[in-house]
Amino acid sequence: MKGLAAPALDRASLRDWYRRNRRRSAELFATIAPEAFADRPIPLRHPFVFYEGHLPAFSFLTLCERALGEAPLDRDLERLFERGIDPGSLDDAARHARDAWPSRERIGAFAAACDARVVDALEHAPIENASVPRLLRAQAAYTVLEHEPMHHETLTYIIHQLDPARKHGPRAEHRDAELPAATMRSIGAGIATLGAAPQEQPFGWDNEFGRHEVPVSAFDAMTYPVTNGDWLAFVHAGGPVPHFWTEREGEWRLRCVFDEIPLPRSWPVYVTQRQACAYARWRGLRLPSEAEYHRYTFGTPSGEERPFPWGDAAAQPEHGNFGFARFDPEPVDAHPRGASAWGLLDTIGNGWEWTATPFAPFPGFEPMASYPQYSADFFEGRHYVMKGASPVTAVELVRRSFRNWFYADYPYAYATFRCVA
Ligand SMILES: [Fe+2]
Repeated sequence: MKGLAAPALDRASLRDWYRRNRRRSAELFATIAPEAFADRPIPLRHPFVFYEGHLPAFSFLTLCERALGEAPLDRDLERLFERGIDPGSLDDAARHARDAWPSRERIGAFAAACDARVVDALEHAPIENASVPRLLRAQAAYTVLEHEPMHHETLTYIIHQLDPARKHGPRAEHRDAELPAATMRSIGAGIATLGAAPQEQPFGWDNEFGRHEVPVSAFDAMTYPVTNGDWLAFVHAGGPVPHFWTEREGEWRLRCVFDEIPLPRSWPVYVTQRQACAYARWRGLRLPSEAEYHRYTFGTPSGEERPFPWGDAAAQPEHGNFGFARFDPEPVDAHPRGASAWGLLDTIGNGWEWTATPFAPFPGFEPMASYPQYSADFFEGRHYVMKGASPVTAVELVRRSFRNWFYADYPYAYATFRCVA
């Protein structure tokens, strides 16, 4: 847009971000036993070996080949590793099932070649060009840079489901806490601004655009998410047992990413959207809409809206449990400095928050040039919006307009909820 000077592209920081992503991928793959790379701990996902090839292949294809028009590196491997699968589609999974994958040596050599080309492009190629849709505002470069950390989170979900004998993670300390009882806080009526305008931020996925205001009536919201301790009462009343819980010799335990511990009562419970709805009904409450989440997270009693629950400051570890500071949750009251203007804790971090809102496009939605299937394949009304972040959500993805979504009964996501009334 004329009159709005685009900030100069900081190539060095984009390159460093790419390298940080690649390092984290390597660290995650290093937790998996070499003999487990063909395992599919989540049957509707590919084996680990696919993701080792997919991450660099997607980056090379999206930025170098499709956006910049560079020559292919290896057409067979590029085709093989191009796309993941939607965990709801058995047909899709069957179509992608294969007996043999290329050796990890061959994939490693391919990945190194992709990395070299991507880094070279980030440093030197014309990655920003307003007359090419894929290069408008450096879209393809950012697509690549945010795609990989999103896989870090879903890769962690898969590692979580892997047999403990076939993985080895870093030693972790886990802390439970005595919590004051959750209370309901009154959230005054006001406007929630959903979505963003392209010029507001360096990048957003297509489903984030279409900035619009939604009037929200007054409602009450829980000061923190529903905890394992809260859920235990529901189980005693006949409610479902969360996927990550296990019972041994009469004691409830929690399966963390790499270890198993006595159930920490003060951690947010991770459940499906359907289970969350059942709990809310049992309590005579309900799940918030996406607009209500915005209202209690970014809204204020004075009516202004802020970029983060805590205000304007960039997201830091003190604000919440996100950014891979650890793999697992913490007590829901561990981050008072991240509280929203209404005093709500853990609105960002420690687990995504389920909403009652089916994932749908905002007004004026257009599929993005760099990745047109990213959102458009999921607007069929069976996925629900999740907001916030989990412990393994990259800090770069912590922004007001970011939206995540899963099937209502997908049990592997790090998603919790709070009730409203
Ligand atoms: Fe992907």
